[in-house]
Amino acid sequence: MATQEQCQVLDHKQVGPRYFKLTLKSHYISTNGEPGQFVNVRVDNGTEPLLRRPISLHRINKEHQTFELLYEVVGEGTTLLTKATIGSKVDVLGPLGSGFKLDPAKKIAILVGGGMGIAPLAALAEKLKTLGGRAVYALAGARDKSCLVCEDELASLANQSVVATDDGSQGRKGYVSDLLIDLLNNTVTQIHYPETAIYACGPKGMLKAVAEIAGQKKIACQLSLEEKMACGIGACLGCSVMTINGYKTVCKDGPVFDAKEISW
Ligand SMILES: Cc1cc2nc3c(=O)[nH]c(=O)nc-3n(C[C@H](O)[C@H](O)[C@H](O)COP(=O)(O)OP(=O)(O)OC[C@H]3O[C@@H](n4cnc5c(N)ncnc54)[C@H](O)[C@@H]3O)c2cc1C
Ligand code: FES
Repeated sequence: MATQEQCQVLDHKQVGPRYFKLTLKSHYISTNGEPGQFVNVRVDNGTEPLLRRPISLHRINKEHQTFELLYEVVGEGTTLLTKATIGSKVDVLGPLGSGFKLDPAKKIAILVGGGMGIAPLAALAEKLKTLGGRAVYALAGARDKSCLVCEDELASLANQSVVATDDGSQGRKGYVSDLLIDLLNNTVTQIHYPETAIYACGPKGMLKAVAEIAGQKKIACQLSLEEKMACGIGACLGCSVMTINGYKTVCKDGPVFDAKEISW
């Protein structure tokens, strides 16, 4: 159940060339929010832009009753959001959507983040760490070094982490899906597939590649999808995607789906 709330800005800082981290206070969202869910943010207190912007819960701190958003400045809305000052209030609707589902039988978690897809995976890694009893591998990829954001944070929450960039400017040269193949084929690590779950977030092409790898190896896999959104609550059907069970909305039925469900 989502709430609309004026959340106080506790911190707001630039963490990369186009990347910002916003810390907001909310007892309700920090208590009820789960990794993989998102909030719909009104980026300005005026009437423009009309539509809220969907942003994933990046970190959830139940103890301090705060949550963090990690976002990239790409257009009008995210540019306006950078102007939110510490102490001011931001109008937030959330938590929204259906997040990652954790199966206690899966003792190995592989987190695969492409670009800003890393954002919701930090909250997931933190939850997995808190629950304990699992080995967590974090794989992060980006176009180049300048597009890698908060990968250190993700690494600090995982047992093992690796980075790839398309141009080789940091970590392995190649795609994050190549890191996944490396890990699954690693004879030293010897990942036991039936005990493994893959959780991925990133661009569509990357998610498709990850779904194919998981399908070939018969590994459980959940994907966090991204679609342009208007209402964010399942009312306008603007974010519908085709699944094997018919059209589903990314904002309400997702954003996290079982990889086997998606019709590419
Ligand atoms: C479930 C979900 C979670 C997301 N989490 C994050 C996150 O954690 N960090 C982050 O940086 N970005 C995230 N995004 C993408 C983010 O919503 C867009 O980058 C943002 O809405 C762009 O707004 P803008 O006004 O700056 O850009 P513009 O391109 O000017 O936006 C114009 C319109 O298109 C919509 N739009 C544009 N790109 C996207 C997109 N990729 N997804 C959805 N709507 C879009 C905007 O909401 C707006 O209505 C997420 C998207 C979804 C759907
Ligand atoms: S954005 Fe309206 S149904 Fe998803």
